[in-house]
Amino acid sequence: MNKHIGILTAGGDSPGLNAAIRGIGKTALSSGKIQIVGFRDGFRGLMENRTMRLDWEVLASILTQGGTILGTSRDKPHKMPVGSEVMDMTEVICDNYRRHNLDALICIGGGGTQKNAYRLAQKGLNILTLPKTIDNDVGMTDCTFGFNTAMEIATEAIDRLHSTAHSHHRIIVVEIMGHNAGWLALGAGLAGGADVILIPEIPYDPLKVAQAIRERQHRGTNFSIVAVAEGALAVDEHAKITTMKENKSKAKAEGDTKISKKLSEEIKAFSATLTKNTLRLTNQLEELTGLESRLTILGHLQRGGTPSAADRVLATRLGCACVEYFEKGVGGCMVAVKGDSTVPVPLEEVVGKRYTVPLDHDWIRAARNVNTCLGD
Ligand code: F6P
Repeated sequence: MNKHIGILTAGGDSPGLNAAIRGIGKTALSSGKIQIVGFRDGFRGLMENRTMRLDWEVLASILTQGGTILGTSRDKPHKMPVGSEVMDMTEVICDNYRRHNLDALICIGGGGTQKNAYRLAQKGLNILTLPKTIDNDVGMTDCTFGFNTAMEIATEAIDRLHSTAHSHHRIIVVEIMGHNAGWLALGAGLAGGADVILIPEIPYDPLKVAQAIRERQHRGTNFSIVAVAEGALAVDEHAKITTMKENKSKAKAEGDTKISKKLSEEIKAFSATLTKNTLRLTNQLEELTGLESRLTILGHLQRGGTPSAADRVLATRLGCACVEYFEKGVGGCMVAVKGDSTVPVPLEEVVGKRYTVPLDHDWIRAARNVNTCLGD
């Protein structure tokens, strides 16, 4: 009897998505018992019943391609913009799952996608997920695909910034993606020998950063590379947002929806002011050290282009394993990386568990040992 699997990619794109689609597709088609269908643009495509045929011909040429042939979006089933409204489209999605006679839906995505997939699993759909994100911050898996490629790109950028910073005796602040987790800034910073690395997990003191740069000046080195994660916060900013979030949780727990809504808006407004904090830091460092300073924002360059060999292998392994688990009757799980192997982890254990950099992690110790300033 033929089985049917649907595939969608959701959230920010990540190198390796096509390798994962190919891994799933080829394993399924080779079994001779499983048909596959792709849904375009994440959960929106499933809601709108926009599909893509995934046959041998389509799968044959995608391994090395960046992005996702299916397209992606950040739309959530339960909060979907439809016309001028935001609606709960979960039931429509469930109907389309049944219309296609699906025996499973594979959702490939980061932390947000795991949450949305879990909501669908709670509605009775058979869901499997794969962890992808350049941020490497999905819980319950050793790593996610996309991260390695992004780290390579950011490392190459730091290498290139070194020679120009050195020639001009400048500070170059390089902003690296990662709102909530500092894996990318820390990994690329370590690999590229950044002099300062600032990550969301360690609130930084600009005076200490300036002092580290001045110490380099005293040793006769008049340039510095500062690798900053998008979400890194100065000590005072961190304290302010933490208090606001604590007050909001308290108001929510006490059922005070008016105050909790007001605080949500305040948090949103304050967070918006933080988007320019790398520019602010760059200017501060110029003032504090007297060295000319420049800011480079790597942005979406870090997500684009062909995946690294490591990400192609990882995404292929996860895609193939996912179909094997499906054939064994496993459902409601994320296929996670554990050492050299994979394990299915129930979705309820995955949601809400963001994997941030532990403060005693080897990479942090190594950075401190090679005299990198972490801003604390
Ligand atoms: O979630 C991955 C990520 O690349 C983050 O590092 C980054 O902050 C965000 O996506 C950017 O999102 P968008 O592509 O929507 O601008």
